[in-house]
Amino acid sequence: MNNIQTEHLSPDASGLSRAAELLSAGGLVAFPTETVYGLGADARNDLAVARIFEAKGRPRFNPLIVHVASASAAQRYVTWSDTAEKLARAFWPGPLTLVLPLKPGTGLSPLVTAELPTLAIRVPAHPLAHQLLSTFDGPVAAPSANPSGKISPTTAAHVTEGLSGRIEAILDGGPCPVGVESTILGLSGTPTLLRPGGIPAEAIEQILGAPLAHHTTADPLTAPGQMLSHYAPGARVRLNATSTTADELLLGFGPVDCALNLSPTGSLTEAAANLFHHLHALDAKQPKGIAVSPIPDTGLGRAINDRLRRAAAPRD
Ligand code: TXA
Ligand code: MG
Repeated sequence: MNNIQTEHLSPDASGLSRAAELLSAGGLVAFPTETVYGLGADARNDLAVARIFEAKGRPRFNPLIVHVASASAAQRYVTWSDTAEKLARAFWPGPLTLVLPLKPGTGLSPLVTAELPTLAIRVPAHPLAHQLLSTFDGPVAAPSANPSGKISPTTAAHVTEGLSGRIEAILDGGPCPVGVESTILGLSGTPTLLRPGGIPAEAIEQILGAPLAHHTTADPLTAPGQMLSHYAPGARVRLNATSTTADELLLGFGPVDCALNLSPTGSLTEAAANLFHHLHALDAKQPKGIAVSPIPDTGLGRAINDRLRRAAAPRD
């Protein structure tokens, strides 16, 4: 299905009401969040949710995050806990996804959770995402708005490049400020970091007053979507590079001579915001390889290195 006329919606009242109208009619609408663009559908509509998987080429066993406007809306869908309350107060709205036991009989499509007993849910901080969720007034299932396995989108142009003709609309909110996806935290047992992301693990540990458990192996029951190869550009990717070969372009960090720099001053916040944008831009030059400078593995650096390791992983 590659023949839909994808509407480009502007970030104003008429764009927002059109986006909400399309969602209500079972359409797929890409919208900006503070992390990356999401590909939204009404999470209660089986057909609409099924179309997300089809448009992305995403395996059906990989569940989706539900986006809602507030923590009280989240509590309709999941069994809440004191830990969830603490973290929601500290980090919502914002780039933190909580995985909690799914309440029965909520009306969510079973495709959203891929039949798991848990639901991943978050309240995004981007003003347009918030306005869209409030106008639509329902749960929105939204993975990142990229073809499965490819580089995540941080601009409307990235979404157009990957999904134009497969989705009803793109709400253009400019570049996403955080630039890496939400941190995913499993809360059905011991708090476990399932995916490093926009909220550093250290900040979460500080609120919890205890270290997080780390998800280590690719356990399909707790972290179904953490495939090793992901975010893959066309070029092969080499990490911790201090020099380049003739057929490589250098993605730099800090004061180095390079094709594109994630942050000349060595700011991890700036590097996260630039990461997917620069990977898209370097890949468009079609080099054989992209070499990447070493990046410190603390704070947001953990999310950046996680994405880069997956971009560099063998593709099979
Ligand atoms: O920042 C983000 O989280 C973005 C924006 C659009 O909100 N969304 C995003 O969605 O990154 P996606 O689908 O690209 O990644 C969601 C991840 C997948 O790895 C999926 O396997 C995992 O969340 N996930 C979803 N439901 C889960 C569950 N019940 N238990 C464990 N992991 C889950
Ligand atoms: Mg994704």
